[in-house]
Amino acid sequence: MTAAFKTLDDVDVAGKRALVRVDLNVPMDGDRVTDDTRLRAIAPTLRELAQKGARTVLLAHFGRPKGKRDDSQSLKVVVAALEKTLMQDVGFADDCVGETAAAAIARMTPGDVLLLENTRFHPGEEKNDPAFADELARLGDLYVNDAFSAAHRAHASTEGLARRLPAYAGRSMQAELDALSKALGAPERPVVAVVGGAKVSTKLDLLGNLVGKVDHLVIAGGMANTFLFAEGVDIGTSLCEKDLADTARAIVAKAAAAGCAIVLPSDGRLAKEFKANAANRVAPVGEVAADEMILDVGPDAIAKVSAVLEGAKTLVWNGPFGAFEIEPFDQGTVAIARKAAELTRAGRLLSVAGGGDTVAALNHAGVAGDFTYVSTAGGAFLEWLEGKELPGVAALSATS
Ligand code: 3PG
Ligand code: MG
Repeated sequence: MTAAFKTLDDVDVAGKRALVRVDLNVPMDGDRVTDDTRLRAIAPTLRELAQKGARTVLLAHFGRPKGKRDDSQSLKVVVAALEKTLMQDVGFADDCVGETAAAAIARMTPGDVLLLENTRFHPGEEKNDPAFADELARLGDLYVNDAFSAAHRAHASTEGLARRLPAYAGRSMQAELDALSKALGAPERPVVAVVGGAKVSTKLDLLGNLVGKVDHLVIAGGMANTFLFAEGVDIGTSLCEKDLADTARAIVAKAAAAGCAIVLPSDGRLAKEFKANAANRVAPVGEVAADEMILDVGPDAIAKVSAVLEGAKTLVWNGPFGAFEIEPFDQGTVAIARKAAELTRAGRLLSVAGGGDTVAALNHAGVAGDFTYVSTAGGAFLEWLEGKELPGVAALSATS
């Protein structure tokens, strides 16, 4: 893709104050970062800036403190993990604007990295308030956005700043946009999308957009039950949004008109309770008893999806197949993830996956590293797949 925005190749950062928007919204267990994927993702940008002699000032949000200072949502807890990932000291300032921030930045020397406190402690952040964005802009000479996963938010630090300072995409932002445009921009066909997860209602826009773009749409997870129900299949006590049967039928009709083949599970692994190691059996989807629920795809569905992948050139994946967090209902997701990984390793498939659950599922299958690209984003990845413009990306392009 030829970027419609400027990158770090287009600027001399030596000695300058670079305000870098990163996504440090990492999962924690107490004071411990449990998944450092997002920290590793921004490391190339931060190392490059440090090596080129910038004074790197990090802006980020953490949790949803709703415009008020809340010490339980301080970014201070992330500093140690960030230092470990970058293998360099990271300073911390107790506020992202005002005297505290300005004084800490004034003390920096080229190559230093400083993290400012949670931008969402100020109401102006989420409101994209011009006065607040001006305050942030005063702290830097240039702006780098390396937070694709926050680019669906039109906030001061993700959008407003790009309109106030010379703005550049960071390396992680570039890599995300590049991988995503390869997968859905002008992809090699056939293209397969796997969309799973519990509910159709949260992914209506996604399904509607994808049927017009991909050759095969594999519907997985709980939402497949709604489509089966809409076709008149008895699904027992399975998770299902019965009131969305008409919507499901409309999506199927739209797909047929667009020449997109919808792939629904042909069989399932059934149980009477939602519990790890619950007694279970495999049966065709037409044979679910009134007191049973579908908790995963069965071997026939796994084989059918694998065959679709065998014939494909491009895969985009969001959402697991079954209740992958409880055994043995992880088998479908694991088997299909491994198939996709094997085809990718063999150079036969370009595979892109994203979304929190999906990344967890791929990690569980041990294959996240084998996919062509795994997005760090949850909501932003979805909105991008939905065909929506991401304000953070749009602002970068607009200022180029
Ligand atoms: C995320 O964790 O998905 C991003 O950092 C965005 O966070 P938000 O959903 O609170 O805006
Ligand atoms: Mg989120």
